[in-house]
Amino acid sequence: MDIRLLRPSDIPHVQHANITNLPENYFMKYYLYHALSWPQLSYVAVDVSRPKKTPYDYPRIVGYVLAKMEEEPADGVQHGHITSLSVMRTHRRLGIAEKLMRQSQRAMVETYGAQYVSLHVRVSNNAALRLYRDTLGFKNEKIEAKYYADGEDAHSMKLDLGFIR
Ligand code: ACO
Repeated sequence: MDIRLLRPSDIPHVQHANITNLPENYFMKYYLYHALSWPQLSYVAVDVSRPKKTPYDYPRIVGYVLAKMEEEPADGVQHGHITSLSVMRTHRRLGIAEKLMRQSQRAMVETYGAQYVSLHVRVSNNAALRLYRDTLGFKNEKIEAKYYADGEDAHSMKLDLGFIR
């Protein structure tokens, strides 16, 4: 498994993974905006065990984290934000999401001096909640009622990145 920075040419494959794994989907230009504005923060997991059939064969993206810096932080504190994270079902529970998140968190601190990272997650998403809370150490900030288009509430979560500096 190769964890590397997102390249603009990966975007159609990342979009495919996103559509497969999550109901929150984005236009191509939003991925591109992340890749061009904060090129250090978004990563992909590539299954390199799959042999290339032709030199033009596309990489097998099995996971991604799409991340950014908050552009106008309401609290005035530089911080990162996880826009989207997912791993294909065939490759779950191998530590891929944890690695993607840790790479992005480190880059937020080293490149932009981020003090913390924030994200939203569905209150029903037990797998992601376990990852964020138990594995990565995020804390619940608050519940945002009806945050999602279908009316579900979100946990607004935050991780202090002081441990990286
Ligand atoms: N049940 C319970 N705990 C889990 C689960 C699960 N299904 N999946 C992960 N965890 C916890 C465990 O503590 C795990 O450690 P362990 O395997 O040693 O017990 C730890 O998280 C690390 O797990 P990873 O292997 O790194 O996680 P994975 O690569 O499987 O990806 C993810 C987890 C991203 C939540 C995956 O299940 C997924 O893609 N789900 C669908 C999309 C999704 O929900 N994305 C997050 C939305 S929120 C947002 O995008 C900001």
